Amino acid sequence: MTVELHANVDHVATLRQARGTPYPDPVHAATLCELAGADGITVHLREDRRHIQRRDVETLRHTVQGRLNLEMAATSEMVDIALAIRPDLVTLVPERREEQTTEGGLDVVGQQSLVRDAVHRLVRGGLPVSLFIDPSADQVRASADVGASAVELHTGDYANAFLAGGLEGEAQAELRRIADASHIAADIGALKQVAAGHGLTRRSVGPLIQVAPSIEELNIGHALVADAALVGMERAVREFIAALDRAASRQS
Ligand code: PXP
Repeated sequence: MTVELHANVDHVATLRQARGTPYPDPVHAATLCELAGADGITVHLREDRRHIQRRDVETLRHTVQGRLNLEMAATSEMVDIALAIRPDLVTLVPERREEQTTEGGLDVVGQQSLVRDAVHRLVRGGLPVSLFIDPSADQVRASADVGASAVELHTGDYANAFLAGGLEGEAQAELRRIADASHIAADIGALKQVAAGHGLTRRSVGPLIQVAPSIEELNIGHALVADAALVGMERAVREFIAALDRAASRQS
């Protein structure tokens, strides 16, 4: 089965915001990603607006041809914005101002009523909702319980272990956690889609896809934009897609 690549272009906006210039524009980057074969575009509108701005999401709503996925915190301000802009998918993520990037998944088990309220408002407004969660059976089941129709499994611990020591030791254990959680999610009828992401590189996507065939799509940002800075966005996207296709062809 082929695995979809959803390109996260946040860090093109990070570069722009570093100088307060109008360039580089994440909207242009998104177009290049789609021309090179990305299945969709993901952006995270953070509460502190450190990279993506509201107008970026509004423009992307008009330009993205595939699926536009808006990552955001489960706050009423962000729910209002999503309901106004109407992305194809909303992914609720945890957010702490002092963090470098999203650390850990949303604690759906511990914050059931807060997450349920946000999910219900979005779903009532006609927007499908995914929850970005740690790869654990409890979080997967709680996601379905609060009304989400998809989950995105946090791959950060696997990706970090892989960067530190390849596939030896810790990375294998993290891969098993993700594979187990993905199987549980795939068996829950209410969850129509199982995605994964965070910290993945062209090297670490292969083993993940091979052990977790239920994962249908990956959200990839930092490594993709890093590759693009050196080889160009279109080549970076094509090489990621080639890595996904090679891994999918070796799935057991
Ligand atoms: N998925 C979610 C929910 C995220 O918050 C992020 C980072 O914004 C990613 C995927 C992509 O992670 P990375 O930039 O490390 O590829």
